[in-house]
Formats: sequence, C-alpha cells, structure tokens
Amino acid sequence: SNPVVAVCGATGAVGQEMLKVLEQREFPYSKIIPMASARSAGKKVEFKGEELTVVELTEDSFEGVDLALFSAGGSTSEKFAPIAVQSGCVVVDNSSAWRMDDECPLVVPEVNPEDLDWHKGIIANPNCSTIQMMVALKPIHDEARIKRVVVSTYQAVSGTGQKAIEELENQTRRLMSGQPVVADVYPHQIAFNCLPQIDVFMENGYTKEEMKMVHETIKIMGDPTIKVTATCVRVPVFYGHSESLNIETQEKMKADDVRALLAKSPGVIVEDYPEKKAYPMPVDAAGDDATYVGRIREDETIENGINMWVVSDNIRKGAALNTIQIAETLIQRNLLRVP
Ligand code: A2P
Repeated sequence: SNPVVAVCGATGAVGQEMLKVLEQREFPYSKIIPMASARSAGKKVEFKGEELTVVELTEDSFEGVDLALFSAGGSTSEKFAPIAVQSGCVVVDNSSAWRMDDECPLVVPEVNPEDLDWHKGIIANPNCSTIQMMVALKPIHDEARIKRVVVSTYQAVSGTGQKAIEELENQTRRLMSGQPVVADVYPHQIAFNCLPQIDVFMENGYTKEEMKMVHETIKIMGDPTIKVTATCVRVPVFYGHSESLNIETQEKMKADDVRALLAKSPGVIVEDYPEKKAYPMPVDAAGDDATYVGRIREDETIENGINMWVVSDNIRKGAALNTIQIAETLIQRNLLRVP
C-alpha cells in the first residue's frame, strides 16, 4: 500500500513547496501529515485543495509513518531523524545535519542514485548550491574528467527561509519610501546590496556554505580528486540561485561539445543564444524544475577550460523537488524501508 508521508517543517518556505511538489508529481501516498513546531500546531496548510491540520513534531510523531521529509532546521533533524528511523520511518533530510555522515548517502538522483542502495534510514539532500552545480557538472566530469572548479554564487534569500523573504520585502518597501531599515535575519541590509557571507565563518576564512560546496561535491561525485573553490554571495533575489562556474578538465572540450552534451543531459536545459540576449536568469527559473545553463564559452587563459552560468530554483531543485525525487527513486528501487 502507499506510504504514510510526514512533511516536517510544513509551514516553512521549503515545507510549503514540498506539499506543492508532492501534489504536482502525484506522489503516491495513503496519508500526508504536516508537522511543525508547537507554535504552528492546529494551523492549516493546503494540499490538493483541502486543508490539512499541522501537528506538533514530537518523539511520538513517527508511529505508523513510512516516509518523513525533513526541512525544519539542522537541530530538529539532528534530534528527530534518528527517532523517526527507530520507529521504522525512512527520512529524507534537507538540512545540513547528516550530509557528511558516512552512514548517510548524499544524493542528487540524476547524478548518484546508486548511493541510495546503501542507505540505513537517513538520506541527505545536498546544499541547494551544490545540487544545481552537480546536475550541470556530472555530464562534463563523465566526458572529460573535471580537475578543478572555481565557483561564485549569487544566492536568493528564500534559501534562508520565510523570514528572510519577508526581510527583503520589508527593507525594499522601506527604502523606497525613504525610511531607515533594520537588519534582523541577515547581519547587514540585504535590499539593494550583496553579502559575501552565507552561513558562519570557519577557521580557514571561508564560510560554511563555501566549504559545503567543496566537501559535498566530492561525496556526490564519489571522486576525491575534484578540487572546488567557492565564493558564496547572498543577493537581493527572492527565488533562484545563479552560479558562475570556471571548470578545468583533463580532456579538451569545445564550447559546442559542452552545449551538445548538456542539451541531452537529465535535468538540464541549455539556454545559450547570445545573439538573442538569451541566457538563464533567476526570474525565469523560479517555479521551474530544470537547471538552466548558458553563457557557455572556452576559457582562453588555460588549455582545457570552460566558463558557464548555471541557474535553478533553489527551493525546488535545490530543496523540495530534489528531496521528493529521492523519495521517488527509493520507491522505484524498492528501498523505502529501514534495513
Ligand atoms: P514553525 O512555523 O512552527 O516555526 P523556514 O525555513 O521557512 O524558516 O521554516 C522552518 C520550518 O521548520 C517551519 O515549518 C518551522 O515550524 C519548522 N520548525 C522550526 N523549528 C522546529 C522545531 N523545533 N520543531 C518542529 N518544527 C520546527
């Protein structure tokens, strides 16, 4: 019979999108249970035109639940994911809590679905910026072996959650009417600004977000030789992360080869017509499932190098959609059970 599915963090930016994606993709279920903190217990969320009542996420919530999709913050996942698994529930977790745990596969279904085969109950969804980069890079790595990637990101505020979406709205409105702004979610004003800090700083001077891209790439590609160096920037965009990628490969690839290769790759849409001023942009990618690639050109300063621009909806492919694609792949592979 179809699984009982819990959406943990159902009132949040990603949780809301998860409900939408479950509906749009006609995910098989026998029951959907929206869960959030005590603050939201009793609130209603919409699913398939009906109202579902949010229940508080507690230690006893997972009795009879087959699949839990978590997007309720790292500490909630850290605490409750093992409890869910204890009661026989498979967890797909969107937080960073379990990503680098050796017991947990870190999966982008277009890239490394086979890693689901060794799951022990918790499967991690990668960082939003990593996911879209992997979708675009895996075909190139298979074809020409990537040696090194230099990535700079332009990340939307929705990645921080609902409160950050409201902060950008409010600051924009206030500045446009000549009022002073206060920064609450971010350490500085985000409206009409760029913040070269996402997540906290580490001892090496990089931010945690930047180091996630380094470590997660190696785990997902299953190749410790790929070097990634990242600069992650928050920009005043609501939905859709953009990335500038400089890629050095072992084998030579011409820009046309990369275009042809990516055009037939799963999850990718190539949009690269400079003569028509056509290239991917976050306002177009928002609400879509694909990872869009454009501005593909050879790096003329090195032997085997490619530059390109990659855009995807961070809440969909970067979070809710990838999580649900993982769940769909678990079902296809008959892996929706705690081993
Ligand atoms: P709540 O609305 O009750 O606070 P976002 O990323 O948009 O900020 O959303 C975070 C989601 O995680 C919300 O649904 C939020 O619920 C939920 N959440 C946060 N902390 C907890 C917690 N301790 N237990 C359960 N759910 C939580």
